[in-house]
Order: sequence, then structure tokens, then C-alpha cells
Amino acid sequence: MRDFPSAAPDLHEAEPIPEAAKAAIEALLQSGDLFRYTAPQDAPVALLEREFAEIMGTRYALAVSSCSAALFLSLKALGLPKGARVLIPAFTFAAVPSAVVHAEMQPVLVEVGTNYRLDIADLEAKIMDADAVLISHMRGHTSDMDAILALAKAHGLPLIEDAAHSLGTLWDGRKIGTLGDVGCFSFQSYKMINAGEGGILVTDDADLVARAVIMSGAYEHNWKKHVDITEAAAKWQNKLPLYNLRMQNLSACVIRPQLTELPRRIRDGLANHDFVAERLQDSGYFDVPAPLPQEVRAPDSIQFNLTGFSEAQARAFVTFAKENGVPAQIFGLSTDNARAFWNWQFIEGPPPDLPGTRAMLAVACDVRLPVRLKRDDLCFVASALISAARMVKG
Ligand SMILES: Cc1ncc(COP(=O)(O)O)c(C=O)c1O
Repeated sequence: MRDFPSAAPDLHEAEPIPEAAKAAIEALLQSGDLFRYTAPQDAPVALLEREFAEIMGTRYALAVSSCSAALFLSLKALGLPKGARVLIPAFTFAAVPSAVVHAEMQPVLVEVGTNYRLDIADLEAKIMDADAVLISHMRGHTSDMDAILALAKAHGLPLIEDAAHSLGTLWDGRKIGTLGDVGCFSFQSYKMINAGEGGILVTDDADLVARAVIMSGAYEHNWKKHVDITEAAAKWQNKLPLYNLRMQNLSACVIRPQLTELPRRIRDGLANHDFVAERLQDSGYFDVPAPLPQEVRAPDSIQFNLTGFSEAQARAFVTFAKENGVPAQIFGLSTDNARAFWNWQFIEGPPPDLPGTRAMLAVACDVRLPVRLKRDDLCFVASALISAARMVKG
């Protein structure tokens, strides 16, 4: 018998797209002008890039078809050679090592601690033989960026930030995604801004963005429709392949009205997370890792470690949580999980020995917490999880 009230919230239900998007989409449908490069200027995608760069405080933004595309183009635009060794956290989504493989480079996995953040000692050990660092702020957990920036600088390596889950996160007051050479964001549905699919990269580097713009599919002189890259782009004219990973205008029309919603979503996401986190932590069944002191998070999900559960108990916990109405996953215990590094069999060679990350994945539990949830919903989620733990532990 449940010992908590009310109906289960749908943890996959997004916020409605703002009304303002409808007029923009209607006008676009009337004109039929869906391609970003048809209009001589001010196409919705171009406007989105300008607005996003302004919000992030960067010189450039390039909107593309997904965050994976942004990561791929960033690796290509950095001019890294074929076979370059790219350090990535061993805890991330399979799309991240996939982008590295797609760019014909070699992902090198770095251990991640029980707090979901990069193990800096392992980074230090592996950085000697690396050509680039791609730090994935998985589920919006920010690793020690001071240490990572210092190490990348000391070794003269470029740093890409995968900020797919970190739109709105701050590190020492600076926006995550703007600390490295290039930052990549996702507009896929389970992110802070929802376009179904979509991504964007930001940078201050004119040469890098010019290369990325051309490779994203700005054929002939379409790069002239991008802000302030004429000199750099002219240099690369006809010298780079076109991968055609552009964003279309319809996506930009869905995204732009959400930009003004962002501060509220960030605020609500953090408040919601902290409300549930406090209850889970106080229950004694779970450990919810604290943010690092420099970090102000913008979560749309919650992660916590089961404490003192056997594997059988952990599996039972997931079953009971689902019965209670809250789908939860333990990254390392569900079959074919895309965030468990041993499932990334597309990487050449056997899975590396990463006992720290493996141990964390065996107890780390993941629950979606969309920002639209209200207090009753949050109480439900916390109670359902605590009740499931109680059912296991007695
Ligand atoms: C950590 C991380 N990086 C990158 C991506 C790729 O994002 P996209 O689906 O926009 O390609 C995802 C997808 O969810 C992700 O979880």
C-alpha cells in the first residue's frame, strides 16, 4: 500500500511551447521559407544565433541540427588530426564518444567519481598523451573547471565543453559553455529549451566558428549571412567538406520564444531539484552529491546514489519506484544503458578498466525532474522514492 497521496506526475511531459511561437511559425509556414539561407538576412536561425550569443556573452553562435552535430563540428573545426586522442568523462551519453568517433578521433575515457564529476587525478595522468579535452557536464554536474582549464592550458590542449545539460549553470559566476574554446548545447526535448531536436555552439574564436559554419553547410558564400566572420571564412572557402548539419527556420521559431523563459526555468529547476534532494538526503537511504562550491546548477533531473543497497536491493528499488509511479534508472544496472561506458562497443578495443566509474554507475540513480513540476508533484516524487527504498529495506 502506498503511504503517499495524489496522482503521479508525468516526468516526460515538457512545458508547452510559448504562444509567441505560433505566430512566428504561422508566418513561416505562409512564406514557406524554411531554409536558413534563403533570406538575405534576419532569418529566424540567424536571429536565434545573435540572441543566443548575446545571452551567453560570446562573440559567435552557430545553430545546428543537434548537440552531437555541434560536438562533431567543434572537433573538426579545431583542426585536430585524424586519430587525435580526445579525453572525455567515462560517465556521459553515448552521443559524446560517438561524436569523437564520427570525427575519426579516438575517445579516451577518464574516471568519474561518486559525485559524477571528473576524477582530476586520472585526468592529470591521461592528459600527457592527449590532443584535446572534451568535458561533458553530464546531467549538468560541473567538474572542477579551475583544475581542468589549468591542466588544458598547461598542456596546450583545446577544451570543448559539452554543455547539453548545463544551459544556465554558472561556475564562479561564469556561464558554463563559455569557459573552454567552444561550448555545445542541446535543444532536444529533455533539455532546458525544447525544440524536439537542435543544438548550438558558442565561441569567441572567429577562425574556429568560420570553419564550423562552412562545414555545417554554408556552401558558396552563405557564410556572409553570419555575423562578422568574412575574413576568416574567405580563407576557408572551398577548402572544407560540407557536412550539412544546419538548423532549419522552423526549429528557430520554436526556440526563440523560449529564450525569455530561460531565467524562470533555471530558477524553478534548481528550486525543484533542491527540494527533492533535501528530502532524499534526509531519508538516510540515499546520498545526493552536493554541488562544488563554485557551481550554481540549473538541473532538469536529479541523480543520487543508493547507500548500502546490494545489487538485488537496488534492482528491487527500481521496480518499487516504478510501481509507485516514478520511473528511475540505475545507469549501470539497466540493460544496454547508453550512459554505461561498457556499452560503447563502437569504440575500438575492449572497454577500459575504470573501477571508480563502474562502482558509481552501479549505485547512481537517475530521475527526470522537468522544471514545470509543482510542489505536490515534487512531494510525490520524493515520497515515491523514499517509500520504494523503505519497501526494500523494511
Ligand atoms: C551529455 C550529453 N551530451 C550530448 C548529448 C547530445 O545531444 P543531442 O541529442 O542534441 O545530440 C546528450 C543527449 O542527451 C547528452 O546527454
